[in-house]
Order: sequence, then C-alpha cells, then structure tokens
Amino acid sequence: MYSEKVMDHFTNPRNVGEIENADGVGTVGNAKCGDIMRIYLDIDEDTKVIKDCKFKTFGCGAAVATSSMATELVMGKTIYEAMEVTNKAVMEALDGLPPVKVHCSLLAEEAIHAALWDYAQSHNIEIPGLKEPKADIHDGEEEQE
Ligand code: FES
Repeated sequence: MYSEKVMDHFTNPRNVGEIENADGVGTVGNAKCGDIMRIYLDIDEDTKVIKDCKFKTFGCGAAVATSSMATELVMGKTIYEAMEVTNKAVMEALDGLPPVKVHCSLLAEEAIHAALWDYAQSHNIEIPGLKEPKADIHDGEEEQE
C-alpha cells in the first residue's frame, strides 16, 4: 500500500525537531483527523535561501513521511522556489500516496506555506502565489484535492 520511499521517510524521518529563533514558523492542522504539523525555517537574510528546515508532526505515518520529504525538498531553495514544493511534488517525490492519504501531503504544503507567510509578514516581503494561511486548525481539505 505504501511505497518504499514513504516507508523509509516514515521509519527514518529527516529533519525532525525545532529551530530555535526560526525565521519562519507555520503550524497547521486537519480538523477531521486531528493531525497537526509544524514547520520551522531558517532563512538567509540576503539570498533568501532556506538554510535549514525542521518539522514536528503529531499525526499519521503519511503526515510524518510527507513532512520529512517536504523539508528535504525546500532545503537549499529560495523562499520563492519553495513555492514549487506543492503537495503533488511531495507525493511524486515519495512515489505516490494512497488516495485516502492525499490530505496528509496537503498538510505538509500548508505548513510550508504558513511558515513562508510568517517570514514574509515579518520581513514585509511578497512571495508570488503565496496566500495567507487559513486558521491553524481547519476543515475542508478534501474539497481542494
Ligand atoms: Fe491526517 Fe494523515 S490522516 S494527516
């Protein structure tokens, strides 16, 4: 049911933890399953490159695997390039997810966006395509899949 990559990132998640004094922090949740994800970003002031990214996930295995993969994908990208890390990109990098687990990858995308938004707000920057995140714990993910 799960790809080898999903199993790998679930059993051996990369970049777990938190970043003290992170430049951007985003927390999102899914009201239906109750899973919560938080992403921390360390961003270079001049180049806007994401130097470090860590996550904490209180959630299912797919949420752990997608947040792990998402942190790997955004690391080394600029805050603008990080917008390319969509839930689809994360799923592709993991060789797919079962349909009922697609919302977990959406949570990873939302957590990255929320962290980018946090940074953009505090630095008065506009990131093309980035919208204000919805409330931390919210509903309705299924409709967007
Ligand atoms: Fe909710 Fe996976 S079941 S994030």
